[in-house]
Amino acid sequence: MPNTVLIGAQWGDEGKGKVIDVLTAQADLVVRYQGGSNAGHTVIVAGHKYVLHLVPSGILHPGKQCVIGNGVVVDPLALIEEIRMLEKEGIVVQGRLCVSDRAHLVLRYHNALDKADEAARSDGKRIGTTGRGIGPTYRDKVCRTGLRMGDLVERDFPERLAANVAAANQALAALGAATLDVAELQKIYAEAACALAPYIADTVEVVNAADRAGQQILLEGAQGTMLDVDFGTYPFVTSSSPTSGGACTGTGLSPRRVERVVGVIKCYTTRVGEGPFPTELLDAAGEDLRQRGAEFGATTGRPRRCGWFDAVVGRYSQTVNGVDLWAFTKLDVLDSLPVLRICTAYELDGKRITTMPASLAAFQRCKPVYEEMPGWLQKTSQVTRYEDLPVAARAYVERLVALIGGKLGILSVGPGRETTLRLGL
Ligand code: IMP
Repeated sequence: MPNTVLIGAQWGDEGKGKVIDVLTAQADLVVRYQGGSNAGHTVIVAGHKYVLHLVPSGILHPGKQCVIGNGVVVDPLALIEEIRMLEKEGIVVQGRLCVSDRAHLVLRYHNALDKADEAARSDGKRIGTTGRGIGPTYRDKVCRTGLRMGDLVERDFPERLAANVAAANQALAALGAATLDVAELQKIYAEAACALAPYIADTVEVVNAADRAGQQILLEGAQGTMLDVDFGTYPFVTSSSPTSGGACTGTGLSPRRVERVVGVIKCYTTRVGEGPFPTELLDAAGEDLRQRGAEFGATTGRPRRCGWFDAVVGRYSQTVNGVDLWAFTKLDVLDSLPVLRICTAYELDGKRITTMPASLAAFQRCKPVYEEMPGWLQKTSQVTRYEDLPVAARAYVERLVALIGGKLGILSVGPGRETTLRLGL
């Protein structure tokens, strides 16, 4: 397998966990490059469901090595909990997982500030964050006041933590939120340092040594292109770079060593949290998709907003990420629909556009332009070969690929590993 970056092409929740799991079979090293425990990658192995927030899902494949890269923001307490959960399931983690000494720490005050910031925002301004402290941690990183995984095991950590907690407490008090106890946090993180010390490593060296040794690397993104802090629907985005460019800055692997980009995209669209969503279905049809697709957040349990496939988003993702191969997911969710709609362009102030406006106000005014295709009204989850799919189902998927560019590599027709039709991936 060539060194591969895997990205989400929509607003997250495209089914990346499952596709990563399938591709991991061919990889030696699986590396997560951005985001934090706001992500929830769901993988079903032999009927057993695992939801991973920080640890790459490669851990579910015996013998594979996993890395949490420098671009990820790591809540040490959430990481310890996840390692314990995996060990309880009989999965060996120590010796197979390392976490970058350069990765920024999500500390209790980041979670508190995330929630307090959201509570202080008025209606229409709330982002609908996952409350996992992501924004405040990346804010500290950029402001150069953050603490990193490597700092956690240094002698002066308690002191540096105390200074940051004091500053955070001022901000929390100003927002009318409860402040935090420094001594308690110092104790909690001293214990966390002991538990995590064996996992902390210079992962720039780990990743590049693996590459020099000819090992195959899978770089896994979390969230999706439309939540990217640069390319997404700003400010209704996350605070990191889920797009393929983030894979290099988030791991230290050179762009010249990335050989392939795989995009994961759902056969319809969903979004969690606030922000514009032109093809959203606010009626019974949206509720129907939500129920059939079990569209509830893996991290927060929130109902996902559902809508038709948006080819403008898909094409934009193809451009920004340079997707070579697409993994389309959840085709089976559409099995019972007699007619399917595809958004091929937007109408903005009386003009037809096929590119993504940067301005939030303009994007909010965009009206989807649809074309329709007939549904197939047959079950697809039992199909094991692409050729055996109903003609209308193939026509739908092929139309989507033609509209967004790139090639079809995987088509997923159900949640388990076995419901994956592979066409050159
Ligand atoms: P944050 O990443 O928690 O700051 O949330 C910012 C926005 O990104 C919110 O709209 C969240 O719902 C969304 N978001 C964050 N992580 C995910 C994810 O893994 N899947 C889908 N949406 C996400």
